[in-house]
Formats: sequence, C-alpha cells, structure tokens
Amino acid sequence: MYDFKPAADADLGELYRDLCAAADALTADEPDAVANMANVAALLWEFLPDLNWAGFYRVGPAKDGGADELVLGPFVGRPACIRIPFGKGVCGAAAESRAAQLVADVHAFPGHIACDAASASELVVPVLRDGAVIAVIDLDSPRPARFTQADAEGVSALAELLSARI
Ligand code: SME
Repeated sequence: MYDFKPAADADLGELYRDLCAAADALTADEPDAVANMANVAALLWEFLPDLNWAGFYRVGPAKDGGADELVLGPFVGRPACIRIPFGKGVCGAAAESRAAQLVADVHAFPGHIACDAASASELVVPVLRDGAVIAVIDLDSPRPARFTQADAEGVSALAELLSARI
C-alpha cells in the first residue's frame, strides 16, 4: 500500500517538494508511461486542495493522421474533451507556447474549453523532452484565482521530473 500524504502544516514549497518526492518514488523504476501518469494524477488530486480536475493530455497524431494534437491521458475528475488542437484553449496555448498558462478566470480566457462547468481557474504546464512538448499537466479549480506563480513553479518541477518517465 502506498500512503503518500501532504504534511498537515506544509507550506506551498514543502508541499510541492513532498509531491515531487512521492512522484519520484512512484515512477523511478516504472517504464510504463500510462501507469506513471495515472499515479501522478492521483497524487496531484491527493496533495492539492480545491481541484475539480487533475491530469494529463499527451501529444499524439490526429485521428486522420494529420498534425499532432493533445489527446486525453490519465486524470482524476469528470470525463473531459478527448482531443485539443495546439493553440486551442488553455491546454493548447500551453502546448503551442511551451510555457505554463496560469489563468485566474477561465471565462475571461479567449477560447477556453469548458470540460466541467464548475471550473473557474486553471493551471496548465507543458512537459518538455529535448525541447519539444510531449504532454501537458492540467489542473482545474472551482475557486477563482486558485493557482499562484508558486503553483506554476511547483508543477513545472514535477513536469521536469516526469519528462523521461511518461
Ligand atoms: N479547459 C481546458 C480543457 C481541458 S479540461 O479543463 C480538462 C482548456 O481550455 O484547454
């Protein structure tokens, strides 16, 4: 049994260090990308309060074999849209720009894709390998302005750790 839990009095820096340590322990010896993304989605859900969706979109070919797009990966939350073209929505913006997208109010984000009507704010961080985006980590919250720059840095550290493991 795994029992990874955040310390009750952890500050945000400590919380993300503990989250990354748990993700490291769970993924270090496991070559299966789906298993690793599934466990990390569960960890994000366990460690971070006030989320209604936490998970991955992976870069993969379009159904017709066309240009790469984002394809739904392991997550915790309500069923979500399956395919997102680069440049569309918050996830597509993160994939296209290869930069974290910290969105305080999703309704004010042009082209935001509403998968769950409860979502009010969102953080999307790209996972890069050799400079190319291979996936994004997507976090949604029902609370406006839930995510801060410290969250973006914490999730970026996680993305770096996962780069060769998903
Ligand atoms: N809101 C995202 C779509 C994915 S769901 O939030 C799970 C977007 O605008 O890209």
